[in-house]
Amino acid sequence: MNQRKLLEKADQYLVGGTIGAMYLPPEAAMVFSHGRGTKLYDVDGTEYIDFLLGSGPLILGHCHPAVVEAVQQQIQKGSTFYNLNEPAIQLAQKVVEASPCGEKVRFVCTGTDAVLYAIRMARAFTGREKILKFEGGWHGLSDYALHSCRPQKTGEYPRAVPDSAGIPASVAQHVLVSPFNDRQKAGEIIDDHKDELAAVVVEPLQRCIRPEPGFLESLKDITSRYGIILIFDEVVTGFRLAWGGAAQRYGVVPDIAAYGKTLSGGYPLGAICGRADVMNTANPRLDAADPKKAVVTGTFNGYPVSAAAGLATLNELEKQGTYERLYEMGNRIVHEVEEMGREMSVSLKVAGEGPVLQVLFTEDEQILNYESMLRADKKKAYRFGIEMIKRGFFVSPFEKIYLSVVHSDADIDRFLEATRDVFKQVISRM
Ligand SMILES: Cc1ncc(COP(=O)(O)O)c(C=O)c1O
Repeated sequence: MNQRKLLEKADQYLVGGTIGAMYLPPEAAMVFSHGRGTKLYDVDGTEYIDFLLGSGPLILGHCHPAVVEAVQQQIQKGSTFYNLNEPAIQLAQKVVEASPCGEKVRFVCTGTDAVLYAIRMARAFTGREKILKFEGGWHGLSDYALHSCRPQKTGEYPRAVPDSAGIPASVAQHVLVSPFNDRQKAGEIIDDHKDELAAVVVEPLQRCIRPEPGFLESLKDITSRYGIILIFDEVVTGFRLAWGGAAQRYGVVPDIAAYGKTLSGGYPLGAICGRADVMNTANPRLDAADPKKAVVTGTFNGYPVSAAAGLATLNELEKQGTYERLYEMGNRIVHEVEEMGREMSVSLKVAGEGPVLQVLFTEDEQILNYESMLRADKKKAYRFGIEMIKRGFFVSPFEKIYLSVVHSDADIDRFLEATRDVFKQVISRM
């Protein structure tokens, strides 16, 4: 069926004509047929260079031969067993060995699951109920996580604002919110609620905002002082900013890390990994009457096909030179796009690190927190995204770009040329 007909059908049958939050206007909408390496093809045969990578999982690009081989081998043996299987055990070892806080692992299906259950385990372990998160931080779709991720204005800290209808108002009573990179404010809130706080949950690289030196360290200090569980949401950063994720990159080791995306090799998979005593709350062998017993299970936990894909992915990432290459490409984009901005008097900053970047159209010299994100010009960012798509680059007009180990210098050259063209033809005239 051709693209126009499929788009009409999508509008007819899918809510919002889409599969989730990503909605492209008719001028840029497409229906994908297949992907290979860094290229994506829509059903009409148009080629795109992919800078979204399935919103992060495809760090090896589409259909990497090692991943395809591992998946094919596994599906011939059976898709799911609801029991121990070799890929899950081998992957567990890999994750524990790579993760700076790694002692034990529980596999789940998504990043949302991983953060939700990390929070549950922290509550079970500490016997406390509240969590602290940071304004603008995204931790998936659970009722707890979906607070103060995208508020219209910055908050009256520590009050949590729900981001969605359908979340009971009572949930907000269990969630405290602080501005990212403000160690004084976070310290005050934690001090005030130290006896009620089970966990502090943070994206160490919050979206594309880097932690200021000392910020993560201050969270580590204060949480360990009060016996609060420090959870790093490494769903984006794990195995991406470094082999040991953001914990390794920034030199701060949390109690628990939540993984997803990269770990999954492009198949649904998440993991909670960390201190054995906290993880043990999810041990099904604990007595049913144990007040620390948390239930963390699911039909697809440790799904062998995803575990095989994840294992193949990590084996590739572990090879020499992976992270040097990702940073080399990322640094080039930061440098050249910021240089273009200066040349064409387009005020911008490229936020992020290495393979996770976002062009923000802003006068701000520093991107420190959600307030900086609110100040950035969203109309320009949206237009930039749409114009890039129209020029054959698959990006999200709302979000960051991701780089893979298979992006070539030619892909980056083409991305930079198109960026220059969009700045010149469109953005500098807005
Ligand atoms: C930092 C972070 N945590 C958690 C999630 C949720 O992961 P998933 O979409 O796999 O549920 C995301 C998804 O984008 C994320 O970026």
